Amino acid sequence: MERFELAVGAVKSAGAALRLSHLEDGDVQFKTGYKDLVTYWDRRTEQMLRGEILSAFPDDMVVGEEYPPSGGGGVLWYIDPIDGTTNFVNQHRNYAISVGCWEGETPLFGLVLDVEREALYWAKPSEGAWRNGERLHVTRHRDIHDMLMTTPGVQYTFLAQHEWHESMRRLARAVRGVRCLGSVALELCELAAGEADLFVTLRSSPWDHNAARIIVTEAGGVVYDIAGGDLPLDAKTTVLALNSPEMLPVVQEIML
Ligand code: IPD
Ligand code: CA
Ligand code: CA
Repeated sequence: MERFELAVGAVKSAGAALRLSHLEDGDVQFKTGYKDLVTYWDRRTEQMLRGEILSAFPDDMVVGEEYPPSGGGGVLWYIDPIDGTTNFVNQHRNYAISVGCWEGETPLFGLVLDVEREALYWAKPSEGAWRNGERLHVTRHRDIHDMLMTTPGVQYTFLAQHEWHESMRRLARAVRGVRCLGSVALELCELAAGEADLFVTLRSSPWDHNAARIIVTEAGGVVYDIAGGDLPLDAKTTVLALNSPEMLPVVQEIML
């Protein structure tokens, strides 16, 4: 079986288990504090995905959120077993399983399952971006006043005292509206689907965005770090995603 087919099967069966899941006492733990959760289901889902991938492709390497990297040093898989754990715990919706597969700097495919909606976003280079059977395209908006911005960590983006604090406030004032779903992967997929125009986060890990960035690019969008530089593959980073490279100077003029 090819990697893509294996990933689709594994993600769908992990999603089916999550839809049936119920949180019991003791299933939710704090990592760094009360805003940073991990559950029994994050760990179980990551273990299941790792097991399936490495049984079929033992020379591949898996980088996931909840466990240290494992496997060989070949093709790299970035896994977020639940992106949007707070939503999973507090809403039981608006959370995703994210799987991005890369060979060096070359993307092989990205998969993001919106678990409760059973919407599978996927993309492969030159094959476009899809949500189940629907082809996805970014919006054509070029006027900042027409644009909808999404940011997952709304408290951090607008309230924390980081170097981009004033830039974020200026951007929020310029766009038509700001939305926060609470999942990097799903918000990037919203941009790919033409449901948002501009995405920003000031903290993201490789497993958060390395699947959905492929989907954004294949839908016609662009991804950068917040300063408009290349988005790294293997480091924690800021992310700025836009519906067009034409919008980068416009956004930068507002931010800088
Ligand atoms: C988080 C979510 C959240 C974002 C955080 C991420 P997690 O991932 O994507 O929306 O603000 O930066 O870490 O912890 O739910 O996998
Ligand atoms: Ca995440
Ligand atoms: Ca996670």
